[in-house]
Amino acid sequence: MSDLQTIIMAAGLGTRMKSRTAKVLHRAAGRPLIDYVVDLASEISDAPPVIVVGHQREVVQQHVGDRARYAVQEKQLGTGHAVQQAIDYVKDAKDVLILSGDVPLTRPETLQRLVEEHRRSGNALTLLTMSLDDPALYGRIVRDPTGAVVKIVEAKDADEQQRKIREVNAGIYVFDGKHLASNLKRLSKNNAQGEYYLTDLIGMLRESGKRIGAVIAPDPIEALGVNSRAELATVESEIQRRVVERLMNEGVTFRNPATVVIDSTVSIGQDTVIYPFVTLEGNTRIGNACVIEPGVHLQNVTVGNDVHLKSGTVAEDAVIEDEATVGPYAHLRPGTQLGKHVKVGNFVETKKAIFGEGAKASHLSYIGDAEVGADANIGAGTITCNYDGVNKHKTVIEDGAFIGSDTQLVAPVRVGRGAYVGAGSTITKDVPPDSLALSRIPQKVIEGWAKRRKKKK
Ligand code: UD1
Ligand code: CA
Repeated sequence: MSDLQTIIMAAGLGTRMKSRTAKVLHRAAGRPLIDYVVDLASEISDAPPVIVVGHQREVVQQHVGDRARYAVQEKQLGTGHAVQQAIDYVKDAKDVLILSGDVPLTRPETLQRLVEEHRRSGNALTLLTMSLDDPALYGRIVRDPTGAVVKIVEAKDADEQQRKIREVNAGIYVFDGKHLASNLKRLSKNNAQGEYYLTDLIGMLRESGKRIGAVIAPDPIEALGVNSRAELATVESEIQRRVVERLMNEGVTFRNPATVVIDSTVSIGQDTVIYPFVTLEGNTRIGNACVIEPGVHLQNVTVGNDVHLKSGTVAEDAVIEDEATVGPYAHLRPGTQLGKHVKVGNFVETKKAIFGEGAKASHLSYIGDAEVGADANIGAGTITCNYDGVNKHKTVIEDGAFIGSDTQLVAPVRVGRGAYVGAGSTITKDVPPDSLALSRIPQKVIEGWAKRRKKKK
C-alpha cells in the first residue's frame, strides 16, 4: 500500500520481563520478536518501517539492519513520546500505521482489514481491539451508549467500573497522518505512570469531533503483547502451532505435533515424518521423505532426501546428504559432512569430518578433523587422535580403506586407498595404498595355564 508509513515502537526495556535484554530482542521460535513485527510491516507497506529504538538500540539496529529506518528515544517517556520521535519520518504520509514491537502474532490479513476499514470510513483513527476474559493490564476501550469509541483508559488509571471493561486496546492503530502529527504535541503526562500515553490521542480526537473506528481482532491471540516470560511462552507456542500447521499443509507428517519444537526459520520437505520430541533450530533444512526419530536435535543442519536420523541424534552446523543413516545417539559436531549413503551409527562423534559417499562408521567412534574416503569402513571403537594438547591435526582415510576395530589413528596420518588396518592398532605412520598395517603386540598363548592355576588353589 502506498501513502502508508509504519512506526514500530520498540524502545522499552520491558521491566516485567526481568531481563537485561531489551524486550523486542527476546526470541520466540528462534527469532527475536521484532523480526515478526518488521515482517508484518513489510507485508502491509513498501516503505521500510520506522523503528523507535532506545534500550540496546545498537543491537536492535544491527539485527534489523536496512529492513527499517530508526528514530531514537533516549528516555522512555511513554508510547506517545515514542511516536513523537518518529513523526518527522512519516509526517507527509496520508496514513500512519503504528505497531508495537512486543505484539508479534498479528496476521497480515487483520492489519489489511484495519487499513481498509480506516480508508473506507474516512476515520481520523482506526484501532485494533480485542475482547478478553481477563483484560489484565491492557488499556480499556470506553464506548458511549451508541457504541462509539470515546477514549482509552490505561489499567493503572482506570476506576473500578472501567476495569471491568473486557474490550481492550491491542496497541495497533492507523492514524490520519495530519491529525496524528498535530495532536501528538498536545499530549501531557498527567497520569498514574507519569508518561506520555499514545492512547490519550483517542480522547483528544474524539473531543475535537473526529471520527474514530475500531476493528475487533477475530482471535485475541493476534493482539497478545509480550510483557512477561509467561506471555513470551504463550507467543512461542502459538508460533509453534502455526509452523507445524504450515508444514503439515506442505506435506510433512507429525506423529505427535504437540511435542515438537521447530523454529520458524526451519524448512522440511514433503513426506518427511517427524516423530515426537524433535527439536529443529536455526537454519535447518530437511529434504523430502526423511524419517526423524524421537529426541533428534538439529541446529543449522542441512539434510538431503531419504535420510534416516535415528533416536537421539544431535547435530550442529552439519550437512547430511541423501539416503544417509545416522544414530541412534550420534553426535555430529560443526563441520561434519556426510555424503550420500553414509552410515554413522550409535555412539559415534564426528567433528570437522568429511565422509565420502557410502563410507561407514557404525559404532562407538570419534572421528575429528578427518577426511573419510568413499566406501571406507571404520570399525567399532576407532579414535582419531587429533589433538596433541596444543594443536589439532588431520587424519585422511582414503577411498575404500578398512580400519579394524579399536584403532587409534594418531594424526597427522594418512591411510591409503584400499589399505587395511588390523584391529587394535595404533597407527602413527602413513599407511601406503593397498597395504596392511598392524601394530598390536603379537599374542602369546600358554597352554594349560588356567587349569594348573585352578589346581594350585
Ligand atoms: C500499551 C498501551 C495499552 C495497550 C497495550 C497493548 C499505552 C499507554 N498503553 O500498554 O493501552 O493495551 O500497549 O499491548 O500506549 N515503548 C517505547 N517507548 C516508551 C514506552 C513504550 O518505545 O517510552 C514501546 C515498548 O517498547 C513496547 C510498546 O511501546 O514495544 C508498548 O509499550 P508497553 O510499555 O509494553 O505498553 P503497555 O503497558 O503494554
Ligand atoms: Ca506491552
